[in-house]
Amino acid sequence: MSAARPPLPLAPPIAAPSILSADFSRLAESVAIVDPARDWVHCDVMDNHFVPNLTFGPIVVRAVRKLTPAFVDVHLMIDRPERLIAAFREAGADQITVHFEARHDHELARVIEAVRESGARVGLALKPGTPLAAAEPHLGWLDLLLVMTVEPGFGGQAFMPGMLDKVRAAREWRESHGARFLIEVDGGIAPATARESRQAGAEVFVAGHAVYRQPEPRAALEQLRATIASVAPPVPRPRAPR
Ligand code: DX5
Ligand code: ZN
Repeated sequence: MSAARPPLPLAPPIAAPSILSADFSRLAESVAIVDPARDWVHCDVMDNHFVPNLTFGPIVVRAVRKLTPAFVDVHLMIDRPERLIAAFREAGADQITVHFEARHDHELARVIEAVRESGARVGLALKPGTPLAAAEPHLGWLDLLLVMTVEPGFGGQAFMPGMLDKVRAAREWRESHGARFLIEVDGGIAPATARESRQAGAEVFVAGHAVYRQPEPRAALEQLRATIASVAPPVPRPRAPR
């Protein structure tokens, strides 16, 4: 791997522009607005099985890796992700997130372990219909919990405000169990919804349309960064005496 990396994974709040909404004929320009000292670059991998859309694989992740020293956050919306963990890691993924609901060849716990063994940080994503409780056995092992705020598959959908309760529950679970995962929201994130998500406890903010489909993507990203930095995260509740 080429350029030196910043310390990982940066202090939250973190903006994560999603290249799904970028112009792939100008990928270098799109990736150039990502500030490695402040942002992650989010890569949405779709397989036309787990979701009804098809995007890209390790080849494009490798291109992104060459274009930036920023943290590369790979969101796998694919069945049987374990078959491609090594390929994505080798392509330069710093973090690999798999879906709770995907088909797996092995138990999910084994898949999570395989991501970690690859050297990447490990994330688990929950579709809107999946309650936090379903993922509880895994939460203690994660670096990232991705709370989907739209149905995965397409950019440009409307944020689902009902997911804020899941963000709050995730934050509370983390506090009460001493876990360490960051909470990422993905889908319909723009300054207003990022603000609400930050108030609920989110720390990483994926944004596709709100950055790349704006007249000035660089300015739109700056506005998103400023918004998330201006909102104080929720105050941790005092722990009940034992
Ligand atoms: C949706 C993807 C998102 C997508 C978000 O399935 O996981 O990362 O890029 O796009 P926006 O921000 O446009 O909703
Ligand atoms: Zn995503």
